[in-house]
Amino acid sequence: MKWMLTGGAGYIGAHILRALHDQGHDVVVLDDLSTGLRRKVSEGVPFVEASILDTDSVTRALTDHRVDGVIHLAAKKSVGESVEQPHMYFEQNVQGTMALLDAIKAADVHHMVLSSSAAVYGSPDVDAVTEDTPTMPINPYGQTKLAQEWLVRDLSESGYDLSWVALRYFNVAGAGADDLGDTGVFNLIPMVLRALDDGQAPQVFGDTYPTPDGTCIRDYIHVQDLAEAHVAAVTQAERGGRTDIYNVGRGMGFSVLDVLDAVRSAMGSDFAHEISAPRAGDPASLVAAVNRIHSELGWQAQRDLADMVTSAWSAWQAFPPA
Ligand SMILES: NC(=O)c1ccc[n+]([C@@H]2O[C@H](COP(=O)([O-])OP(=O)(O)OC[C@H]3O[C@@H](n4cnc5c(N)ncnc54)[C@H](O)[C@@H]3O)[C@@H](O)[C@H]2O)c1
Repeated sequence: MKWMLTGGAGYIGAHILRALHDQGHDVVVLDDLSTGLRRKVSEGVPFVEASILDTDSVTRALTDHRVDGVIHLAAKKSVGESVEQPHMYFEQNVQGTMALLDAIKAADVHHMVLSSSAAVYGSPDVDAVTEDTPTMPINPYGQTKLAQEWLVRDLSESGYDLSWVALRYFNVAGAGADDLGDTGVFNLIPMVLRALDDGQAPQVFGDTYPTPDGTCIRDYIHVQDLAEAHVAAVTQAERGGRTDIYNVGRGMGFSVLDVLDAVRSAMGSDFAHEISAPRAGDPASLVAAVNRIHSELGWQAQRDLADMVTSAWSAWQAFPPA
């Protein structure tokens, strides 16, 4: 089977591309390069520069490359930006997915893996979030990721034959290779490295949350583990297996201060941080229950927080972001 990877020039997409390639899968990348980098798409991989909003171009690419399934990652992903520019997030993430699904139908494609997010849960009052925990997103980004899930599910329930899997990623970190590091500044570890490069103290957004050290707790997952979860999802979709939603995390929470200490250890240096105001839309704690993906897809995270921080720091030094 041949797969199209939307957003394949981005941080996570480029890891998935490499993991699928290593397993002998045939992949075409479609990306508008709005945040992605062309250099992350390996030579020899067919690349289509287009927006998912452009149904005609996407339909043509799916048909020309005889694609059987789509792994959909192309999206905007910053919670803070989504609070400031909600319409842009609904346009790119929701209208973009509607346009992509129109192309999928027009090109007679019947398999899909959707990139979703823990942001769909909002701020649940539970120790570990299962896939059945009610979804109550508390920011426009999370709302758009939930709407993406609804669009895919509703298409499959409308009579169109679509076998799909949605993966709800928790907090993605690290690098599977030095040339694939996270060059954005929306996730915690790159934000810390960017501040240190600029000679500033990294900011900690709020220290009065109801958590043991007062800072937000998240479930960090190594991007290479996440890429391997996609290989498992693709295998399930190819088998025409169960359509379902899966959390992708480690089932373990770390606070912002824990992560800063891990960065200090990886860098072998001490640095001060500053406490600033909490950000709008940040829940206090989000930790995944990961039993479902383990038992049904046979996937389990292999790498720990030290692996994430060490690989992120190594990639940052080898390929310093502009
Ligand atoms: N990074 C995380 O911690 C995290 C957590 C949960 C979910 N996700 C989801 O993972 C996916 C990928 O995130 P990432 O961290 O790799 O971000 P990224 O910004 O590095 O990658 C997104 C890619 O999509 C492309 N893109 C964006 N809009 C597009 C459009 N309209 N048409 C075509 N291409 C477009 C960008 O150029 C980029 O290559 C997103 O769907 C995001 O919501 C990320």
